[in-house]
Amino acid sequence: MSYGTIGKPDHVRRAAIMGDYGRARREFSWTHARLELSGLPGGTGLNIAHEAVDRHAAHPARRGRTAVRFLDRDGTVHELTYGELARRSNRFANALGTLGVRPGERVFTLLGARPELYVVAFGTLKARAVLAPLFSAFGPEPVRCRLELGEAAVLVTTPALYRRTVAPIRDALPRLRHVLVVGPPGEDGCSLDALLDAAGPEYRIGPTDPQDPALLHFTSGTTGTPKGAVHVHEAVVAHHATARAALDLRPDDVYWCTADPGWVTGTSYGIVAPLVVGATLVADAREFDVRRWYRVLDEQRVTVWYTAPTALRMFMAAGPEEARRHDLSALRLIASVGEPLNGEVVVWADAVLGRPVHDTWWQTETGAIMIANFAGSDIRPGSMGRPVPGIGAGLLEQGPDGRAVVAPDGRVKVLHGEAEGELALRAGWPSMFRGYLDAPERYAECFADGWYLTGDIARRDRDGWYWFVGRADDVIKSAGHLIGPFEVESTLMRHPAVAEAGVIGVPDPAAGEIVKAFVTLRAGAEPSVELRRELLAFVRRELGAVAPKSVEFAPALPHTRSGKVMRRLLRARELGLPEGDLSTLENAAALTAGSP
Ligand code: PRX
Repeated sequence: MSYGTIGKPDHVRRAAIMGDYGRARREFSWTHARLELSGLPGGTGLNIAHEAVDRHAAHPARRGRTAVRFLDRDGTVHELTYGELARRSNRFANALGTLGVRPGERVFTLLGARPELYVVAFGTLKARAVLAPLFSAFGPEPVRCRLELGEAAVLVTTPALYRRTVAPIRDALPRLRHVLVVGPPGEDGCSLDALLDAAGPEYRIGPTDPQDPALLHFTSGTTGTPKGAVHVHEAVVAHHATARAALDLRPDDVYWCTADPGWVTGTSYGIVAPLVVGATLVADAREFDVRRWYRVLDEQRVTVWYTAPTALRMFMAAGPEEARRHDLSALRLIASVGEPLNGEVVVWADAVLGRPVHDTWWQTETGAIMIANFAGSDIRPGSMGRPVPGIGAGLLEQGPDGRAVVAPDGRVKVLHGEAEGELALRAGWPSMFRGYLDAPERYAECFADGWYLTGDIARRDRDGWYWFVGRADDVIKSAGHLIGPFEVESTLMRHPAVAEAGVIGVPDPAAGEIVKAFVTLRAGAEPSVELRRELLAFVRRELGAVAPKSVEFAPALPHTRSGKVMRRLLRARELGLPEGDLSTLENAAALTAGSP
């Protein structure tokens, strides 16, 4: 269904940082974008922490401004000025030195939203160590796997997460040298507070090559272990440019990004971008709740809100009355990311919240927003928008597997005009990932003929707007979180009753997709309601929030001739869709439900 176009009045266009899209694209250059940042004093390089914190702290008019306004569970508000954040992150950088952490080593956080997060994040970047944030709702297994893959030197966590998630795996991580726990000295790990108190508040950031690694984000593919996408300090150029162009973010904004700090959005736009711009960021310790979120928007006078389609759909489901109880007049821009945003939500928000939603598209690998509906441009509800200035997007001809066809000479076929194909980006923007940790061949496979291949299928209309069609692979998107079916299947198969597992995403009106598992059982195990309950509890304990919501017993799973579970077929059968090309099917397994 088409929702037409939501036009922007002239005064809105004129007031936006980027009022004229065509002109901005023509005139944009990354070299110029870099010059809007200051660089380290003495020309010693480019460091994210300097751009986000120290350069504001060094400025008498900006030092006392609020960088972080943190809303705690008990209603307390903690504020950190740019000056305070500079000094505290200096202390953490010094503390890392005392612990013997060297540039390039990895500091992981498993923190959720906490004021310490910002101190640890920027202290790590100042010390030129690599910041690797983890999702706090992960269970012990995904955390262990990522700490091991990332060769974590330091992990910073909370007492509760230590007990729940870290303690069960601590002995399995001999290379993890330090576990720092926020709060005063307790029974577990080393006290972060004591360490900060003992460290000095002055720190001079060492020379930082813009190509030095800065951030490590794990993401999931269809097969194999999670992939660690490495980003460099130069990414800050894209964080800054896109925060301005796509989010229209300015120093006097009160900005709220609702993404968990353990995912890329929660770092690029939840920590770095708003502070590079010099704005005040609002962070909230509590879980999602429609009423409270309305209160935060209202009471904090949020001007720019970056959120996710799942949350917006829940706002919509809660009805318009709640919106009427709140004053949202401060809100200038609503943007969303992470999963398809249905046009209906955009139109609903325009009518009920008084502002449309600006969809944005990007990935862990791209490090920053690549395609967006801009503040100063019309919106096509349901469309992801147009490429941001400095980004070349294209569509490539697909083969039968859904991915771009790469000819033997390495060339791809670029489609022109109105088309559908694999979405690709001209390689070379500053926040492009520079590698997958220890997996150069996986990294190389992402590129062809000068393009980065995204794995997403998109359509472009005749005016150059991009529309999301689907993923070319089997990864699952649930409530905006990318979930690798392989990781879930491997965990299920560690249960003694399970012989094999196939995991897919099935549509869900609120979360977009939810995770569903099909399992075959080992000889001797029988399908039963109790076993299903036990399996659900098992995966929930091991995986945390990314665990499947339902498990179905199957007598057999369909395989390709090379032995891989055909998730595409599981999904087609589950949803009653056409089964497509079955030429690679090895066993025409009957998927008659074996569930009690
Ligand atoms: O499939 C696309 C979907 O999320 C994927 C990237 O997920 P992740 O690396 O976890 O990063 C999420 C936040 C940047 C994409 O390949 N995706 C992201 N934005 C959109 C989207 N799907 C549809 N519409 C979007 N706006």
